[in-house]
Amino acid sequence: MQSATVSRTPSELRQAALDHIFIGMNNHAMLGEEGGPLIVEKGDGIYVWDVDGTRYIDGISGMYFRNVGHGREEIAKAIYEQISDLSANVYASVTPAAVELAAKIAELAPGDLSRTFFCQGGSEANESALKLAQAYHVRMGERGRYKVISRRGSYHGATYGTMWLGEHPGFPRTDYQPKPSSAVHVAAPHFYRCEFNSESPEECGELSALAIEKAILSEGPESVSAVIGEPVTQPMGGVVPPENYWPMVREICDRYGVLLIFDEVITGFGRLGEWFGADVVKTQPDIISFAKGITSGYFPLGGCIGDRRIADAFAGGPEKTWSHMYTYSAHPGGVSAGLKNLEIIEREGLIQNARERGVQMADRLKAMEERFEIIGEARGIGLVQGLEMVEDGESKKSFAPEVGIGMRMTEALKRRGVWIRVGAYILPLSPPLTISASEVDDLCDAVEDSIEEVSAGL
Ligand SMILES: Cc1ncc(COP(=O)(O)O)c(C=O)c1O
Repeated sequence: MQSATVSRTPSELRQAALDHIFIGMNNHAMLGEEGGPLIVEKGDGIYVWDVDGTRYIDGISGMYFRNVGHGREEIAKAIYEQISDLSANVYASVTPAAVELAAKIAELAPGDLSRTFFCQGGSEANESALKLAQAYHVRMGERGRYKVISRRGSYHGATYGTMWLGEHPGFPRTDYQPKPSSAVHVAAPHFYRCEFNSESPEECGELSALAIEKAILSEGPESVSAVIGEPVTQPMGGVVPPENYWPMVREICDRYGVLLIFDEVITGFGRLGEWFGADVVKTQPDIISFAKGITSGYFPLGGCIGDRRIADAFAGGPEKTWSHMYTYSAHPGGVSAGLKNLEIIEREGLIQNARERGVQMADRLKAMEERFEIIGEARGIGLVQGLEMVEDGESKKSFAPEVGIGMRMTEALKRRGVWIRVGAYILPLSPPLTISASEVDDLCDAVEDSIEEVSAGL
């Protein structure tokens, strides 16, 4: 069911894709050997179809954004109707839909988070949050605060600034050296691979929080603007921090006048079984950045929301203005998609479904951890789950790159009708929040059979 403008056959499309598109994070020679990239043309619920008509379960919701599932005509219609009336903002204006959406986000967000800046995606959301934090400190008379503390293993974006946050091994920055002095990295609260060899999750949580305090002190508190982190970290495969971690980090930030930014680009809008990850980890941040799930990817939209204290810092004369914008901030198509998307999440009880299906999936994944030597740990909450694959369960040794464990697993899943591009050692699972109990079983059956096949072939 190709659109009228597409005249190529599926194999011509794959070749033309290799010739003309940079396919994000992928090596073209490798994609060529695989016969070209997956080219999808239709989606419905948790499924997508490629140009050959093969159906796949979308195991990671596109890229962790398809919260309400594929094929929602009512969102397409809301966008169509909005951009038929008004297709873009005019300078220094807002639209009624943008106002409604910002008010709705303020109502849903924890504490007194109340004023949103809209942009187009997650990297810009974090970029904006960092600028908001630094500008806030300047308004408060602290011009020297520019450093940002982030945790190893996190991912916060691809722009020139955000790529330095986190230090995820899957996103090497060797092409873009040198690292800016604003980027300070600390250990993640990841008990399975605790950098402090902690004996309990609590100890790992405490030592990881104290690592932030240590970094603030060694950098000089007067130079630190913010700590940024995802309440639950997806890139390392659904790392849920020990319960004591975020409350301790909150106290440490308060002690040194450092702002706490939660990157909720993945965790926002229901994926963890609450509206926000902040609700799950019971910690109030000063700023939340969001994207993906706000529109379920039906239109590129992101943003960051600051609390009342931050909003107030920009009240007053012209010198208080926050000088920051994008041409397509609060695009009318995006904000109307967002409003309709949130309406669906509420109307269909998708947050509760994410919670329940998350428990169901976690039970199945834990059973796989027990059954297979190559599954080191199953972890996650809600619909951010992951399996860490190891060569040796005892020593937790990861597979050597030559084994190509990710590619073997990707192909085994694909043969079973599941599309998840598996990385070097994490098999992520984050289906749409609409997934039913029987679909969770189908997905988990395919994962279990794939692990069995790959294990046997090693
Ligand atoms: C936690 C997190 N933050 C930020 C980003 C960057 O978002 P985008 O790719 O929309 O720029 C991502 C993207 O996957 C993400 O997972």
